[in-house]
Amino acid sequence: MAKPSKWVERDKVKENVYWPNEEMKSRAWVHDASIYEEASKDPTAFWSRLAKEGLDWVEGWSEVYQAKPPHFKWFLGGKLNASYNCVDRHVNTWRRNKAAIIWVPEPLGEPVRTLTYMDLYREVNRMANTLRKLGVGKGDRVGIYLPMIPEVQVAMLACARIGAVHSVVFSAFSSASLKDRLLDAGAKLLITADGYYRRGKAINLKAQADAALKDTKVEKVILVKRLGLGVELEKSRDYWWHELRDEAEPYCSPEPMDSEDILFILYTSGTTGKPKGIIHETGGYLTQAYWTTRWIFDVHDDDLFWCTSDIGWVTGHTYNCYGPLSLGATMLIYEGAPDYPHYGRVWEIVEEHGVTILYTAPTMIRMLMKVDPDLPRKYDLTSLRLLGSVGEPINLEAWKWFFEVVGGGRCPIVDTWWQTETGGILISSLPGIGPIIPTVAGRSFPGTKHLILDEEGRPAPMGEEGYLVQIPPFAPGMLRGIWGDPKRYVDTYFSQFGPEYYFTGDGARMMEGEAFRIIGRLDDVLKVAGHRLSTAELENAIASHPKVAEAAVVGVPHEVKGEVPVAFVILKAGVEPTPELERELVKKVDEAIGPIARPERVVFVTDVPKTRSGKIMRRILRKLLRNEPLGDVTTLMNPEVVEELKSLVGYRGSRGASP
Ligand code: WT7
Repeated sequence: MAKPSKWVERDKVKENVYWPNEEMKSRAWVHDASIYEEASKDPTAFWSRLAKEGLDWVEGWSEVYQAKPPHFKWFLGGKLNASYNCVDRHVNTWRRNKAAIIWVPEPLGEPVRTLTYMDLYREVNRMANTLRKLGVGKGDRVGIYLPMIPEVQVAMLACARIGAVHSVVFSAFSSASLKDRLLDAGAKLLITADGYYRRGKAINLKAQADAALKDTKVEKVILVKRLGLGVELEKSRDYWWHELRDEAEPYCSPEPMDSEDILFILYTSGTTGKPKGIIHETGGYLTQAYWTTRWIFDVHDDDLFWCTSDIGWVTGHTYNCYGPLSLGATMLIYEGAPDYPHYGRVWEIVEEHGVTILYTAPTMIRMLMKVDPDLPRKYDLTSLRLLGSVGEPINLEAWKWFFEVVGGGRCPIVDTWWQTETGGILISSLPGIGPIIPTVAGRSFPGTKHLILDEEGRPAPMGEEGYLVQIPPFAPGMLRGIWGDPKRYVDTYFSQFGPEYYFTGDGARMMEGEAFRIIGRLDDVLKVAGHRLSTAELENAIASHPKVAEAAVVGVPHEVKGEVPVAFVILKAGVEPTPELERELVKKVDEAIGPIARPERVVFVTDVPKTRSGKIMRRILRKLLRNEPLGDVTTLMNPEVVEELKSLVGYRGSRGASP
């Protein structure tokens, strides 16, 4: 093989600062920093140009942006269809026979499946007609509970084609969480599978779905045969996809959707026990998905893009479906676990398929770095030209390993900050412009603006930690609301600093060159292995055990997962703590949320620190576990409990600790 290309060079003076080299600049879609200025002069004109250039519209808009903060709309009156933009328009070009999805199953012996854009087009049309036949219409909600198989993209695009709203639920979420989401969304149909492979185990997804469906509004179930497990079908409710597919009409005309019509709902955790159904609409979301994929990952027609996120998270929606497909790119999706059946699986896939862009989470990087830091060197990873990170702050050590060992010191890393709510990446460096600096995510995407505010809502001084907010015009891909709860939308995002400031919930610092260093969540939201969890949901799950009086959950740092939950549990009078009971509590979490939310540790206590009004002081619990100074605890309702907790968790205090 020829000498692999190099795309970055070190800064001549500063350590840990990289710039795209000439080769990268000449290849990149954007390589001139003036794009930032151009966009900020007139952001709405900028987005208007991008929306026109990037997407096919049935009808143009009459107004680009309209705002009555905290509410806003983009491309008013414009009409388009997301599935048309992801398949039809490619089928009408040379891309018709280009690979859209390369699917890698988990079992090593099983063949890889490739769907060209034409294949995808056929499947989407048939599934869309099937949905219609089963009574799904525009605006109806469809639940999707599927593993990482190509039918998941088919299902999403089929919904989009007929204007139905999809609500994808992560396949590793429990029955109970699926049920909650189906109920909240009022879904009338569910698309699921008989099962899938995870670490060599066949998971029976149908059984989980069945348990969730009782007492919901779901009337019909489309079942994809992935394993051939011989599951039971419920007559007049359940249908095999392969049977329906063969009967379905091959063409379904795409519904012209208003730009502001809902494309999907995706549930995410907030600070309360109830997940929020984040609403994304069509035109603005797709515009942001298209352009962030194109500019940040610098995707070209000869690239193979692999985003390792599950479809159940927003990263999967935007970068495993709408972004790459609207672009006509080739993407790889993988069914299984990154460390199965061996720790080199990810590198093996990169080598075998020639992946050029790898987008993953710090937790996976740290895990693979820890098990064998030299393993990637045994594989030919020279096809890689760009790396990406998302979901939580990436620490310097992991960054360096990713850069040197995986990227061979040749590839830029884009550290992309965004949220379920933002729909697409908003803070990142652009690889053709740079700079690329470890632990610094980068600048606001052109046409968007973020600030760091202090407690009083004043701009925080350069380098100081503060609250990360977005200011108008709000990015086109931003959420438009919370399903069924308009008040929560205002309260959660627009009450801290008023309706002109979207509050992200993250702490960050403004660095040199308008770049942001993201610190992480400031609220009771946990990021465990990149997964977003709410402490309240965990607490409710644990407290649902009849022997539990109260539970308090906090996150503590973890070498691989970034953060893990620790539960403080108060048992009812007379109940003895036992290892058996601890297992039962973990099971409660499995049932309510899923194994990803399992507490790392359960500490049985007689009480937890509370304010005089009875609010649990999680801050003190966090500090106890991290050996940080506790500050003044005398104003607590129950200061004496702190002493008990100190000895229980082995608190060593910290140097310079206040009394
Ligand atoms: C939270 C959002 C957005 C896709 C996956 C997560 C954290 C996200 C970064 C990053 C530091 C990050 C933030 C954010 N986060 N990306 N590059 N650096 N932190 O979506 O589940 O909605 O979580 O993830 O804390 O608020 P999500």
